[in-house]
Amino acid sequence: MLETNRIYNMDCLEGIKKIETGSVKLVATDPPYFQGFTHNGQKGAFNDLAISRPFFAQLAQEFARILSEDGEFYIFCDWRGYAFYYPIFADYLPVRNMIVWDKMSGAGNFYRNTHELMIYGAVNSQTIRRETNVWTEKAFSSGARVSDGEKAHPTQKPLGIMQRIITNSSAPGDLVLDCFVGSGSTAVAAVKTGRRFIGFEIDERYFNIAQDRIARETKAAFLAPAT
Ligand SMILES: C[S@@+](CC[C@H](N)C(=O)[O-])C[C@H]1O[C@@H](n2cnc3c(N)ncnc32)[C@H](O)[C@@H]1O
Repeated sequence: MLETNRIYNMDCLEGIKKIETGSVKLVATDPPYFQGFTHNGQKGAFNDLAISRPFFAQLAQEFARILSEDGEFYIFCDWRGYAFYYPIFADYLPVRNMIVWDKMSGAGNFYRNTHELMIYGAVNSQTIRRETNVWTEKAFSSGARVSDGEKAHPTQKPLGIMQRIITNSSAPGDLVLDCFVGSGSTAVAAVKTGRRFIGFEIDERYFNIAQDRIARETKAAFLAPAT
């Protein structure tokens, strides 16, 4: 079994198999959006996603296994990714809603993209969340830089939105899982809010960036005066 309060430089599908069944209260994760360029330099297309369908189907089954009886999950995606991810995750997990993250700024010529989406689910049908499913939270381009510092990853999530997910759907001491750590925002937000975490990041460069951010935050939390 894996130690908690650690991230691992490995493929998440390998790593998640070592997590105890029913031990995770919250999955908060941000898989690749596949909007960029393919390995041969061509512009990526929606059909490119098909190759990763079996991977995400296995990951969804693992989420179903490791989530606790009151577990919840949030999976980030954009408008194209939602169409791909929703049927895969809904096959194995109790998806309950979609959350729209209003980022208050964004780029694009065919209407500016000022939102991202999250697939939201709760294992227990009695879980009640009364907030609306449209959340306004600053992105880096709309001011998160002031609180979070410069971006260390091209798709880095601001701490504000990660802390909102974590405080809504877990309690101090609960275990939070992020399978696609990137720069480590989920883990940093978990440290800030007193949750335990496990994370996986396949790219060594981002793994090291995340390790540094988590170490800084853990030291700051340790040095903070008790309230
Ligand atoms: C969209 S980014 C996550 C950004 C992150 N939310 C943040 O705030 O920095 C997705 C990350 O998943 C990593 N990744 C892709 N495939 C992976 C896999 N199979 N296992 C673990 N990490 C993976 C990529 O290297 C990338 O850093």
